Formats: sequence, structure tokens, C-alpha cells
Amino acid sequence: MHRPRRNRSTAAIRDMVRETSVSLSHLIYPLFVYEGKGAPIPIVSMPGIFRWSQEGILAEMAECVELGIQHFVLFPAFPDSKKDKIASLSHHPDNFYLQVIREVKQRFPHVTLMSDVAMDPYSSDGHDGLVRDGEIINDETLEILGKMAVAQAQAGIDIVGPSDMMDGRVGHIRSALDQNGFTRVSIMSYTAKYASAFYGPFRDALDSAPKMGDKKTYQMDSANKREALRELYLDLEEGADMVMVKPALCYLDVIHALKEQSTVPVAAYNVSGEYAMIKAAAQNGWLDEQKCMMEMLMSIRRAGADIILTYFAKDFAKAIK
Ligand code: PBG
Repeated sequence: MHRPRRNRSTAAIRDMVRETSVSLSHLIYPLFVYEGKGAPIPIVSMPGIFRWSQEGILAEMAECVELGIQHFVLFPAFPDSKKDKIASLSHHPDNFYLQVIREVKQRFPHVTLMSDVAMDPYSSDGHDGLVRDGEIINDETLEILGKMAVAQAQAGIDIVGPSDMMDGRVGHIRSALDQNGFTRVSIMSYTAKYASAFYGPFRDALDSAPKMGDKKTYQMDSANKREALRELYLDLEEGADMVMVKPALCYLDVIHALKEQSTVPVAAYNVSGEYAMIKAAAQNGWLDEQKCMMEMLMSIRRAGADIILTYFAKDFAKAIK
């Protein structure tokens, strides 16, 4: 009596009964930018991904917008000589990242532009928080994050993305933004960000690996799921507009758990290592890159992600064209 294969019998029927979809409107494309002029610098562990110069990024974004990509997150790369213990540059007018945000919003007023709010690209310790005697100091870090978020808001950012997992940062950043008149700026919180080895290629891209120790006193333990719900409830209470799980693939169950409880959209960060795995296998001829990309993005959506931050956004845009 029961023949489930009937619903798979033609491509048209499969289209009709498909439960999940991925479209460009769901994707946020991460881009790396460095100060000054020059050619794009390839990131060896992320084939197809570059650090763009200040001019290069505008041309690259024009190409992406042409392909239909509407949402971007920007990460700045600074030389070690500009870093210090208190990430001073992160909210200083000389910070070229703020200049880039200004230029991008001027040139592409309709795109969604998201930032990273964390100390690590500016920190001489390579940590997301203030380091004192080997310890990451939470509450003093919040002060710095608040200033960073306000500086980015002044430059025209649409969404700030606190990515450091300090306690209380969403509430602190929300008040700082509101007190400075930036009620329009959204917060996408990195709600459940795990201490993951899958960030390796990203840290290569930004030279942002911790100089000492690891990030396990602030990023989450990969063994934990209920703890992600605790972070979710706090972020919702503190005023997060969107919440995120990161990485995506090893944490599909966490995406699902957050989706069931969250009253705001849930994002997932398909991180650098997840991108690198598929690219490397495809380069060896071991996997079909495009099919694996599609299957991976679909799985993240099926798990419950409304939004996916992915280095595959441009490849996806080309594939569906
Ligand atoms: C840092 C930050 C990281 C990523 C995004 N923001 C790395 C880290 O926490 O060490 C990782 C992104 C990726 O691997 O693609 N605040």
C-alpha cells in the first residue's frame, strides 16, 4: 500500500514535495579586507577567498551584487604593528575598517552590511578579550566592545556581530548603541560559538590566532547543547535581533534546538574549515564540489537555520545563474 517512491518518481514531483530550500536571500557572504592598495591576496587554506584591498573590495562587491548577493559581513586584517593589548584601533578614527564600511554603504546603500565586534583582529594577544595575568577579563572587555560597536554604527553598519562570547555583551552593546542614537542598528549575536578547530583557515586569513593558550574559557565546549539554550535565553533577554550557531556542520543539532526555542531568526556560520574541507577534497577529485556545497547548505537550512553565513555564497550564486 505504501510506496514512498511515488513522491520521488519525477523531477517535477520531487520539486513539488521538497521540504526545504536555499536561496541567495538566505546567505551572507564574508569578505576580508586589508588597508591600502594592492592586488587581492589569496588565502591558501581557503581556495577562491582573498583578502581585498580597500579599492578591491568595492569592485568585488559590485561583482557579487551583480550576481544577486545582498548580504555581506566584513572582516578586517591588520598588521601586528597596529595591534595592542586594549584593541585601541578598533574604535579609533584611523581604523581603515570604519572607512571601508562608510565607502561600502555609500556605494551600495541597499546591501545589508554586517560587522565583526570582537577584539581579536586588533589585539596583540590574539584574544577576543582583554588579557591580564593570563586571564580574559570580561567586564572591561565589554567597555571596549561598546565603543567598537558605536564606531561601526557611526560608519553606517546595519548589523553588528559580537563574536567574542563575553558574558553580557549583547545587553552592553544594545545600551551603548541606543544611548548614542543608533536604535536602528541590529545585533546578530554569536550566541552559541564553540571552541572549534574548524576556525583554523580563518585565523590564517587574519593572522589572528591566540598568542598564548586557547579560547576555551569563553567559547563553548563542543560537548554541550543545553548550555547553548542558556546563552540563547540570555541573548534574547538582552535584546539580540538574531542569534547564531557556529560552526554549522558539527552543530546541526544545536541549530535545531535553538530554532525550536528562539523568537528571533536563527543564523548558522558555515565556517572556514568547513569550506576548506570541501574545496580540498574537490581539488583532489575526491568530491563533486558543487553537489556537496548544495547538500551542505541544504542540511544547514533543514536543521533550522534561517540565515547562513558562508564562503560558498558566490559559488552558490554562480551555480544557480
Ligand atoms: C573572531 C572570529 C572568528 C571567526 C569569526 N569571527 C575566529 C575565532 O573565534 O577565532 C571564525 C570564522 C571562520 O572560521 O570562518 N572573533
